[in-house]
Amino acid sequence: MRIVLLGAPGAGKGTHCKRIVDKYGLVHLSSGDILRQERANGSELGKKAQEYMDSGALVPDDLIVAMMAGAVDAVKDKGFVLDGFPRTVNQAKSLDESLKNLGLQIDVVLDLEVNDSVVVDRITGRRSCPGCGAVYHVKNIKPKVEGVCDSCGGALVQRPDDVEDVVKNRLTNYHTQTAPVVDYYKGNNDVFEVDGNKSIDELASVIFGKLDSVNS
Ligand code: AP5
Repeated sequence: MRIVLLGAPGAGKGTHCKRIVDKYGLVHLSSGDILRQERANGSELGKKAQEYMDSGALVPDDLIVAMMAGAVDAVKDKGFVLDGFPRTVNQAKSLDESLKNLGLQIDVVLDLEVNDSVVVDRITGRRSCPGCGAVYHVKNIKPKVEGVCDSCGGALVQRPDDVEDVVKNRLTNYHTQTAPVVDYYKGNNDVFEVDGNKSIDELASVIFGKLDSVNS
């Protein structure tokens, strides 16, 4: 199964991707995670992306398209879920082209719809583990010991782009540049729209119901 998971910053894409890949044995391809890894490695791409990410802007399409074409090609024989990509209509068109060249297609597009006020609360309260990537929330998903990852014992951190001013920029960019991607997909695919304001467990059950029907 090849899935695109769309949604605003903080909508819960990473949270649900983790559950989806665990249940269906897929590969998780998160453009944000790949970019953060490039930054941690000090690569040229990471250096170029840094300024955009820290201000809440989108990294230019040419850099992202090349990066994600390579990531998709590397897992072309497996199922995967794309998280945070495509984020512009140009990126979506390039992805279609790359998949077509590989003789592949997207099987399901999920769109997590969340109110802006919920997004701000979710993102500013998010804490992540740089060691294993586990994600928590100061109110909704607390670790057993405050500030410490349940999975690996690492110290939890707040992402530098998770502060309120940057979140507002990310949301503005989402509405202007990424929301049109939903309409792009509606032209060719069946887009499954999910009310992302619900609890994680309620949402997982709705999403799994849809994916089970596609996978059967
Ligand atoms: P990226 O890392 O992709 O960030 P994002 O899309 O802004 O998404 P987030 O990771 O912030 O949120 P999420 O939807 O995964 O939510 P999560 O599950 O963690 O991108 C970062 C930057 O990289 C971009 O700003 C851009 O600069 C660049 N970039 C990346 N891809 C790009 C592309 N394709 N093109 C150009 N630039 C690109 O959940 C959030 C919090 O809420 C967590 O604390 C979680 O525990 C909690 N939570 C989740 N669901 C629920 C729920 N249902 N109820 C209660 N709490 C919940």
